Amino acid sequence: MSTPVPASSSTVILTGDRPTGPLHLGHFVGSLRNRVAYQHEYRQFIMLADAQALTDNMDDTDKVKRNVIEVALDYLAVGIDPALSTLLIQSQIPELAELTFYYLNLVTVARLERNPTVKEEIRLRGFERDIPAGFLTYPASQAADISGFKAQLVPVGEDQIPMIEQTNEIVRRFNRMAGREVLLEAQALVPALGRLPGIDGKAKMSKSMGNTINLGATADEVRAAVKKVYTDPLHLRVQDPGHLEGNVAFIYLDAFDPDQAGLAELKARYVQGGVGDSVVKARLEGCLQDLLEPIRTRRAQFAQDRGYVMQLLKEGTAKARAIVTATVDEVREVLGLRYF
Ligand code: TRP
Repeated sequence: MSTPVPASSSTVILTGDRPTGPLHLGHFVGSLRNRVAYQHEYRQFIMLADAQALTDNMDDTDKVKRNVIEVALDYLAVGIDPALSTLLIQSQIPELAELTFYYLNLVTVARLERNPTVKEEIRLRGFERDIPAGFLTYPASQAADISGFKAQLVPVGEDQIPMIEQTNEIVRRFNRMAGREVLLEAQALVPALGRLPGIDGKAKMSKSMGNTINLGATADEVRAAVKKVYTDPLHLRVQDPGHLEGNVAFIYLDAFDPDQAGLAELKARYVQGGVGDSVVKARLEGCLQDLLEPIRTRRAQFAQDRGYVMQLLKEGTAKARAIVTATVDEVREVLGLRYF
């Protein structure tokens, strides 16, 4: 799954996030780090998926609108370079909606209901029988996003793998109809350490679970969060042997500590007994402050010039729209939708 496609300046990456809240360390490990690296090797488009965000936020459209610029600031803050990556706003490319409309005929309701990510989201949101049709069908819209750009690579967190699989099913079905390779199949790029647990030890860091450390967190917020990080409930006294499995402090150190040799040595001593959690947490706090401090500073700089950021989004969207429009022209041709 993560075998990289040979680097070629013409290989297209399409990736993105729903702008419903600030991005956090889970996003950083799950995809942002990847994207910062890949922008040097590929043609990368990063989508602010505001239309997809509406599929379960029609009761709070203002939240989505507000978060478009906030997420764009997060991207710029972590090192997405507008000279190397194109940022775009999904809703401003109506051709994506058109493509979705056609793709909905290449997927069954039963198949959409089986999509594990959609299924889990329906459960988490408590929709039960009252599932917005747009929500159930958003995998078709994501297939439009990915194939509209003819993207071959999609750097995302592991929860997005079912979306790429479903995209490829639609792409194959369409190409079979066309009798040639009009659309391209895509590959998810998921890092080995693809999912970061929450500070509370739950399997996933997620805004809705309130267990995140946001990329824009202040130094005080980082300090407070590290204090709350779940460690080893059996490690009561300093001299007791500690456990590493499920120990979030060590899982985070694995992800963020630049001195992995020193970390291995600390782990060995922790397991033997004699290392207190406060030592581990002090090390973790240092790593996180070092990581987040420059991100925070860059974010504040960009936040001072929101006009510039909106202009970047406008130009990126225009460039992206031209690419999607070319794909939609081909799709219409295959479907016989050309009359005049
Ligand atoms: N589904 C993604 C999320 O929930 C957002 C998204 C929309 C996306 N379209 C995409 C991701 C295309 C990758 C490629 O965050």
